[in-house]
Amino acid sequence: MDMIPLFHNKHIVLGVCGGIAAYKTADLASKLTQAGALVDCILTESATKFIGPVTFAAVTGRAALTDADLWRTDAHVPHVQLGESADLTIIAPATANTLAKLAHGQADNMLSVVALAARCPIILVPAMDGGMWSNAATQANVETLRQRGFNVCGPAMGRMASGLVGAGRMEEPADILGFARVVLGKRSAFSGQKIVVTAGGTHEAIDPVRFIGNRSSGKQGFAIAQAAIDRGADVTLIVGASALPTPFGVTRINVESAQQMCEAVLAASREADALVMAAAVADFQAASQADQKIKKTKDTVDLEVKLVRTPDILQAVKEQREKTSGPRVTIGFAAETQNLLANATSKLHSKGLDLIIANDVSASDAGFAVDTNRVTLLDAGGGVEPLPIMSKAQVAEHVLNRLAALLK
Ligand code: C5P
Repeated sequence: MDMIPLFHNKHIVLGVCGGIAAYKTADLASKLTQAGALVDCILTESATKFIGPVTFAAVTGRAALTDADLWRTDAHVPHVQLGESADLTIIAPATANTLAKLAHGQADNMLSVVALAARCPIILVPAMDGGMWSNAATQANVETLRQRGFNVCGPAMGRMASGLVGAGRMEEPADILGFARVVLGKRSAFSGQKIVVTAGGTHEAIDPVRFIGNRSSGKQGFAIAQAAIDRGADVTLIVGASALPTPFGVTRINVESAQQMCEAVLAASREADALVMAAAVADFQAASQADQKIKKTKDTVDLEVKLVRTPDILQAVKEQREKTSGPRVTIGFAAETQNLLANATSKLHSKGLDLIIANDVSASDAGFAVDTNRVTLLDAGGGVEPLPIMSKAQVAEHVLNRLAALLK
């Protein structure tokens, strides 16, 4: 897993309670560590019946604490230091017992003491059997904790260890990580900013079963949406064809054609601070769509599909900006196979953009579908910033650094 700037050197307390899902928390501890966080795990007495502290120490590279550490005499009381230094506390799985303790301010083990002392945001990831979750006492405790500002992630629906199917499963580590990005990002520079991002290719129908599409995977646009979430933005992601999962905290709008994307972009960006058009929008659509599937017959040899231009979305946005206020900043992409910089520069000006990301899509390690990209950033003031090959997540960070400056 790549390092995630949001997590770099952040102190995270990861509380583990005694539920069978505790074994999955080792994966979460590993993911957080790989993302760059300093993860201090605290296991309750019953958690140690399911999984040992050695596992957590091994994946985090830091001591994992148990109740024995509450009574240590070699240093300051560890919970005071932990509670004060943590940027985020995650309790996963959070059992009915620990939820009850927290709701009533009890502090009779290492984890509940640290949670009570913590000044950082706390994420609770409940996991328990369905009956325990739906019990009125648990529900009341969770409601109390929500009201006090705790962030509750899950539980998910599905099969539980008992065989029961319903709400009670712990959210998957990757989803908890996504949830943590939203909570941790909240206090960052883009907090309160509304950012619209487009991703994926559009499909232009020929008949009910066929379409004209392109090779876009949506990866770069999704990476930009995730990076904006990490910085605390309110993100709307307008998606054409892409099978990628929605990053936690993102409002996703699915569209199919360029026409639909145009309508969605105009509506969403009217009140937005920024629009990032990373989608690969088709430039041509069928002049008319057949109502029924076009059949091949013996005499059809040269079937012709007449193509006409699709709406130019950025052109429409430019007109909207001239009439109303939003979006304040517009960023476009130029996917080219030749004359990259010349074509990108002319798009930058004709579409009235503040920044354009020029992307040579003929290289095998850049552009469509792959995880890496090599781009040049061109701004309206004539600045040209070529970037070396890097992951799409890293490209997203560069784009957002530039966006931050443009929004100032
Ligand atoms: O001129 P071209 O369409 O190649 O410019 C690419 C940029 O314009 C991208 O940001 C793309 O998302 C956007 N675009 C658009 N409407 C279209 C086609 C592309 O806004 N019909």
